[in-house]
Amino acid sequence: MHKVGIIGWRGMVGSVLMERMQEEGDFNKIKSYLFSGGLKGEKAPDYTNCHETILNSDNLEELMDMDILISCQGGDYTKKIHPQLRAQNWQGIWIDAASALRMDEKAIIVLDPVNKNQIEQGLNRGVKDFVGGNCTVSLMLMGLGGLFKEGLVEWMTSMTYQAASGAGARNMIELLEQMQFFSQKYSSQLTANAATTALEYEKLMTGSFNDSQFPKEQFGHPLALSLLPWIDVKMENGQSKEEWKAQNEANKILGTNKTIPIDGTCVRVAALRCHSQAFTIKLKKSVDIKTIESLIAEANPWVELVPNERDITCQKLTPAYTTGTMKIPVGRVRKMTLGDDYLNAFSIGDQLLWGAAEPLRRTLQMVL
Ligand code: HSE
Repeated sequence: MHKVGIIGWRGMVGSVLMERMQEEGDFNKIKSYLFSGGLKGEKAPDYTNCHETILNSDNLEELMDMDILISCQGGDYTKKIHPQLRAQNWQGIWIDAASALRMDEKAIIVLDPVNKNQIEQGLNRGVKDFVGGNCTVSLMLMGLGGLFKEGLVEWMTSMTYQAASGAGARNMIELLEQMQFFSQKYSSQLTANAATTALEYEKLMTGSFNDSQFPKEQFGHPLALSLLPWIDVKMENGQSKEEWKAQNEANKILGTNKTIPIDGTCVRVAALRCHSQAFTIKLKKSVDIKTIESLIAEANPWVELVPNERDITCQKLTPAYTTGTMKIPVGRVRKMTLGDDYLNAFSIGDQLLWGAAEPLRRTLQMVL
């Protein structure tokens, strides 16, 4: 059995990964070793075939004893440990959730429902570094993969509605604390007139934004009852890094010869763990909507095509419907008034599952 070391298994992506690996029986096929800085030497949780003691995530010798390492520990850990392992000629497979190595030419960004061939070919020619993609990019390609595969996309904009979980566990908690802060100010005792009551609440609630007690240490700003149209650092061209990733990572995953332009505005909204995206897609040619719907729906088993009707859209094309599931609902598929070769679409996905953990565990299966 292959020895598989897992680092960062207690974090949010790591925990979802462990949960999925248990659900799918992945631990039966490997001898697993859990690594940690804080818990080294302690007894490991009771996973099938798991080494009884937690090993030291900074101990190169222990790490190098593994055939495969999966890291959900974050970019700083990758930057510190990965070069040292390779410098010491460790020949194992490194599977990573962090972005640090994504654009490295020796690494493959993994999303097997879209680039299985690229991963297989990479494994055959001895590629050893496999990195999960940015969540919005992976979720976009899971939803629209059929259109790309058919070579129909000339360019695209993606306007995102990204959940708090993408910013990390503490941010997710802070969003709830912000909501709780507002709820403390709510009482049903305001005036009976709806308009007056609504306006009084608006004043009361938005006044809280400037309250010194308002919890905003993580985001730096209110997210609840608001939104934040900036994710990650600024690039020189004025994009945020999250926006930069869309074109660069998507084209790398697709293995395009000629770059397909993709750009848009990435926005943090008060959802918990589902990222949504609104697309304007410039098609290379006019294609009838039925064909487009089939291409989208048949690209992989997780896409759920939602008819462009109001009730079903509000029921299924939502974070509420998608959260905690592997579903990728895609809807609002219609020709735009801009022209017959302009397509509108909207997609959702759980950013901790297809957006983070799932491509990693599926890559492990391919490696095995
Ligand atoms: N950068 C993403 C976000 C996290 O902030 O939502 C997933 O890659």
